[in-house]
Amino acid sequence: MHLTKEEERVYDGESGWASQTCMKILVRLGELFGASRLIPIDSAHVSGVSYKTLGDAPIEFLEALADAGGKTRVRTTINPQGFDPEYLLRKMPERIRRNQMSILEQFERIGITPSLTCTPYYLAKPKKGLHLAWAESSAVVYANSVTRACTNREGGPSALAAAIIGKTPDYGMHKAENRQPNVLVNMEEPLTNETEFGALGIHLGKVLGDKIPLIRGLRGASEDKLKQLGAALAAAGMTNMFCRKSVSMQTRDLERTNVEAKDIAKTIESLSTASTQEPDLVFIGCPHCSIKEIRHIAELTNGKKVRTGKECWVCTSRYVKEKAATDVKKIEGSGVHVLTDVCTVVSWTELLGIRTIMTNSAKTAHYAPALNKAETTLAPLEFCLKTAFKG
Ligand code: F3S
Repeated sequence: MHLTKEEERVYDGESGWASQTCMKILVRLGELFGASRLIPIDSAHVSGVSYKTLGDAPIEFLEALADAGGKTRVRTTINPQGFDPEYLLRKMPERIRRNQMSILEQFERIGITPSLTCTPYYLAKPKKGLHLAWAESSAVVYANSVTRACTNREGGPSALAAAIIGKTPDYGMHKAENRQPNVLVNMEEPLTNETEFGALGIHLGKVLGDKIPLIRGLRGASEDKLKQLGAALAAAGMTNMFCRKSVSMQTRDLERTNVEAKDIAKTIESLSTASTQEPDLVFIGCPHCSIKEIRHIAELTNGKKVRTGKECWVCTSRYVKEKAATDVKKIEGSGVHVLTDVCTVVSWTELLGIRTIMTNSAKTAHYAPALNKAETTLAPLEFCLKTAFKG
């Protein structure tokens, strides 16, 4: 891999241990994937922030980087942590609180914005063609497919290294030739809600491996529904991008596959493992809600009350919560908790006695059985909220 004179000096340690370590991570990664150079990035997004998924070992590495003066050179955001600053924080044992806060403190010392959201694209929408180093898989697919910026699916350490160096190895999704679809997906029936878009993502993630689908017949696809599709696609497989069929696109040489209504129905059924329709928790906001979604939830919760003994959480970013303050107030008036900095999957729901989760997110339904030790029901937003309120 070719390094400039300046990059070589960093590699040799002239800019200190933190930069040298990060440069070595990037060069190793670049060599592994056949990159010929490093390219500048516009922003980085780091995953692996919740103490629940991170554990103890990486805290020392973060501390060492911060102690050695490691500082980000580009705008860098981070994924959700294990609790919000109020509601769940109070319910967490002291050891968890302390370790989670220590992780956050190290990130802040390195110069990272404590955005604590998986939707960095709402804070600043990346421009088409810009190069990024993002590590949250749902955000990676959204960036590549919806905003048309370019990012590989980074791991937490490589995104952090890229943030500190301000560059990433030039391979994979950064190259135009790797951003072409290689399978044509024909939708036989239109999808009717966000849950079905998510189910399509899970289905395609399982059958496509890392192939890029060109999807034909994706009607009514709002950005929020595409967010569900992308998050689920990345959760179930290694695909980092999808394309939608435009009339002018040549599809003659592409491999083909059909998706039928029964494929979607079967996927939803497989993600609904709960034996009861009485969940302990109704969870909306995976990936974190947009301003539009918050507005819609406010309309649906108007004049309603969450049933006694039930939990209903809506997760979003601090940024969106602040922008949608009036709607948030309405939602909270119904007993729903609008939580920032956190999501169900990376929080300790099992410590709160939550055994069954109803959600409109296929990604959460995919992960919750393993990560939350919970049974799940996957259902559209309206049904989820009705369940939280009924009786
Ligand atoms: Fe975001 Fe948590 Fe879902 S990080 S994509 S809300 S699993």
